[in-house]
Amino acid sequence: MSDTYLDLVSRGWGKSAAKKLGLPQPVRLRRTDPASVDQPLVPGPVLVLDDGASQRAADDVAEALLGWHLDVRRDPELAKGRRWGAVVLVVTDAASPAALGGPALALGGVLRRMAPGGRIVTISRRADDATDPSLVAVRQGVDGFLRSLAKELRAGATANGVVLADGVPVLAPSALGALRFFLSARSAFVDGQLLQVLTADGEVPADWTRPLTGRVAVVTGAARGIGAAIVRVLARDGARVVGVDVPAAGDSLSRVMNEVRGSALQLDITAEDAAERILEHVRERYGRLDVVVHNAGILRDKLLANMTEDRWNDLLAVNILAPLRMNETFTDELGAGGRIISLASTSGIAGNRGQTNYATAKAGIIGMTRALAPVVAAAGATANAVAPGFIETDMTARIPPMPRQIARRVNSLQQGGQPVDVAEAIAFLASPQAGGVNGQTLRVCGQNMVGQ
Ligand code: NAI
Repeated sequence: MSDTYLDLVSRGWGKSAAKKLGLPQPVRLRRTDPASVDQPLVPGPVLVLDDGASQRAADDVAEALLGWHLDVRRDPELAKGRRWGAVVLVVTDAASPAALGGPALALGGVLRRMAPGGRIVTISRRADDATDPSLVAVRQGVDGFLRSLAKELRAGATANGVVLADGVPVLAPSALGALRFFLSARSAFVDGQLLQVLTADGEVPADWTRPLTGRVAVVTGAARGIGAAIVRVLARDGARVVGVDVPAAGDSLSRVMNEVRGSALQLDITAEDAAERILEHVRERYGRLDVVVHNAGILRDKLLANMTEDRWNDLLAVNILAPLRMNETFTDELGAGGRIISLASTSGIAGNRGQTNYATAKAGIIGMTRALAPVVAAAGATANAVAPGFIETDMTARIPPMPRQIARRVNSLQQGGQPVDVAEAIAFLASPQAGGVNGQTLRVCGQNMVGQ
């Protein structure tokens, strides 16, 4: 689904007219170029700032960035006349909110010189791990700072945070993995989010461009929309992929799976034995299973006063009861490095009129994910969820034009996301470098104003 307003205002007279009239000015986001693995990670030099107490951690981060062949500076004066590709703010050892002023204001001083599609990433510690009021205040303070800053950025720039649990080093695989994801074009529609790294588990991949080499993934609802994008991105990252969809979508499922030389399985996931049939298929074709993506989902919107039993039951059966039932089988199957990633929704966080059934199921996914995390952690696996906001798919194309226009604009990037944006977040959570991220729900919503 194309966004004609975005087409109109992203260049020429449309752009200046929108500016003059004070209308939203969305820009085309910096996304991964499928034709080039060599595209730069960020669109310019990277500035690494700290609060003094975190200087050693910031030096370590700067070293790691140099290892990625980035042009790294520790002093804002050192890139005069150039536009910054990214600023990384390291405040892991800050002891009081008083410590944030220096680096925050230094960051403020360079904001006007951020490149389009630039990135701000904070690296801080988890407030829940501290008890001292001043320490909790500064850690929680980063949360408010980051979310507000993300709302001030322009031209497709984003701000996100990596939040480390106490004891997790700044160079832990998932700390680096999350930092790289947030800096890259892969996180185009992730904005204003703080991702927690809870353990030093995970592995830094031998090749960052193909981290899923050797892994086998199953994606439900793979015939179109977000599911088809997930299949393509996982395959691009090196995985062998099995796509599952209902027999009625068999033709388009085959097309998608042929494109990536994957394997198609026509199956309704609400069948009692769905998980067993998936496992049988995967074992026969590839002999192992590493990644499960619960993506299949349906909408049956109605105000609760008009809700029928069919609408309620059909939705719950596909969107939450099937993943719950299938996980009973998959959790035993997944070993070290295993991943379960489920599609939630911002409706499951903030609620949405006409979607009591959908929000019940999607909030259920968030709860299911939290509960699964410690269970699968015992085997060295993880369970996470992704909560998309407004994504341009067949599902959202059915929303009437006016509400659709509004739904697209009410986020910091003033546009809808693309299926690939959700797929990129899932591919990151599926990767070996995300082993220290568990039980979380990552929003891919452009910092939707709803529920933030
Ligand atoms: P879509 O309707 O374009 O695709 C869903 C796919 O799931 C279809 O191919 C469909 O045939 C398949 N499917 C449905 N029931 C199935 C069943 N019983 N067994 C096997 N396959 C089945 O949907 P879209 O937009 O790609 O959404 C994918 C996921 O993302 C869903 O879970 C949805 O709730 C979630 N999501 C989508 C958002 C959006 O803006 N499009 C926002 C938030 C969440």
